Amino acid sequence: MGFKNKFLLLEFLAFVLFNLFLLSMAWKPIPTVTWVLNETSYTRLCSTKKILTVNGLFPGPPIHLYKGDSLYVNVINQGRYNVTIHWHGVKQPRNPWSDGPEYVTQCPIKPGANFTYEINLSTEEGTLWWHAHSDWSRATVHGPLIIHPKPHTTYPFPKPHAEQTIVLASWFKGDVMEIIQSALESGGEPNKSDAFTINGQPGDLYNCSKAGTFKMAVEYGKTYLLRVINAIMNEEMFFAVANHTLTLVGQDGAYVKPFETKYIMITPGQTMDLLIKADQTPSHYYMASRAYAGVVYDNTTTTGIIQYSGNYTSPSTPFFPDLPNYTDIDSATNFTNKIKALNSKEHPVDVPKKVDTQLIITVSVNTLPCVNNSCDGPNGSRLAASLNNVSFVTPSISVLEAYYYQIKGIFKPNFPRTPPYVFNFTADADNMPDNVLTPLNATKARIIEFNSSVEIVFQGTNVMNAAENHPMHLHGFSFYKVGSGFGNYNISSDPNGYNLEDPPEVNTIGVPKNGWAAIRFRADNPGVWFMHCHLERHSSWGMDTVLIVKNGGTKLSTMRKPPNYLNPC
Ligand code: C2O
Ligand code: CU
Repeated sequence: MGFKNKFLLLEFLAFVLFNLFLLSMAWKPIPTVTWVLNETSYTRLCSTKKILTVNGLFPGPPIHLYKGDSLYVNVINQGRYNVTIHWHGVKQPRNPWSDGPEYVTQCPIKPGANFTYEINLSTEEGTLWWHAHSDWSRATVHGPLIIHPKPHTTYPFPKPHAEQTIVLASWFKGDVMEIIQSALESGGEPNKSDAFTINGQPGDLYNCSKAGTFKMAVEYGKTYLLRVINAIMNEEMFFAVANHTLTLVGQDGAYVKPFETKYIMITPGQTMDLLIKADQTPSHYYMASRAYAGVVYDNTTTTGIIQYSGNYTSPSTPFFPDLPNYTDIDSATNFTNKIKALNSKEHPVDVPKKVDTQLIITVSVNTLPCVNNSCDGPNGSRLAASLNNVSFVTPSISVLEAYYYQIKGIFKPNFPRTPPYVFNFTADADNMPDNVLTPLNATKARIIEFNSSVEIVFQGTNVMNAAENHPMHLHGFSFYKVGSGFGNYNISSDPNGYNLEDPPEVNTIGVPKNGWAAIRFRADNPGVWFMHCHLERHSSWGMDTVLIVKNGGTKLSTMRKPPNYLNPC
């Protein structure tokens, strides 16, 4: 080989190496974290028990990502129960395999087994969360999933001085898995929680809780971002901070038009991003949270303390906020109705203006007959719950596997498009026909064409005089809340009042007590997606269904292949 050829060869190799180097800089492998689920001892309310945790933590570890990022989470189950994890509010484009709900998209991770989830972010930005999605394990297995704006982009509001996550959760003195198991056996109401917690702590108003009370240090004049997550099991919540005004700037991983408020109402499953300015006389101020309405509820109040830095004599008890009353529907409605999408150039609204698939779904608490009227529900019956009078029965293998591998007999694709019985849904239950009391037990799903524009109207009912606010949550999507109201939905007049300009984009919507709510979204995410009430007792009683979005015609509109390993049932 001549000198010139050698030189060319070297030059060529250098060129190849340099390009490989450039490629390696651009190509980021998806990082992996490992979570070990195990039973860990925690002492709250003067008693100690073992709870299922991720890496020993309650609340669980926060995940911080940038918009559009991906992450693998290898979940190793060293606990006593089957478990799965759901990434609440993450759309998981084309990848229901990593979505999490037990027997809907996967078989459970059994004790000793593991599963690696792949979290794929797309349009989400703000605060979401993750939680266990098997029986009641989410009571203690949950944590924040915080999605920061992409590098070199920022919030659509002035950058706060600091951020603080506020996780609201329920604390039960008993074992949560036993509580729901025994309630399902007896047919009665599950035990109420014994406390609510803020970042794992019940706070000053409970026994043996003062020492641990959550405290947040602030500096006078600075603005803070509170990321509030309602991880509570069975109650919607009011939340407020004494003397301070809150500004709502985000909900469910999307931005809203900022507005000021003295309190928020947040349902289980929802997240809210709030700005709070430390503009009061330096002192100690309580943040507090308690339940909103609810047929059965824990009526205790959880607190944390905001403490200003600097020299001052701190009060013997911090100032306490005005929280609306448990049953204050007006305060709840006034707040909720103020929420509008930001709808800016960077964060536009893309709500379907026309609808080609409409579902109208009644949301009811029911009863099932019980042998010899020996159950603990009303008149010896068994409590149940339903959507369109179908009480969801958990199948023996996941609906996703049954759909993907075309295994017959696991689910029926005939979840009703409209209520099977039409009656005065919100009337006094004594005037209702008997057949609406008893739901049909079945595993039914509704199949939706790829890319159709879907409207779902949830109609709350007063069956059993058990009307209450139902936080309906859909996996695989965020959706626009285009309307809501009290009483029966009127198909001809109510659409006239829809907000198609700046409807908030959410993943969980509170269907008002004895009222209705309408949502819209484009079915652009092929897969099998759970939809259910996020009050855990209602979901356990069957207030659930499955939406299956078919594949579109192209590779990018087709559900991904299953991962190499699927847990057996
Ligand atoms: Cu937050 Cu199906 O769950
Ligand atoms: Cu409900």
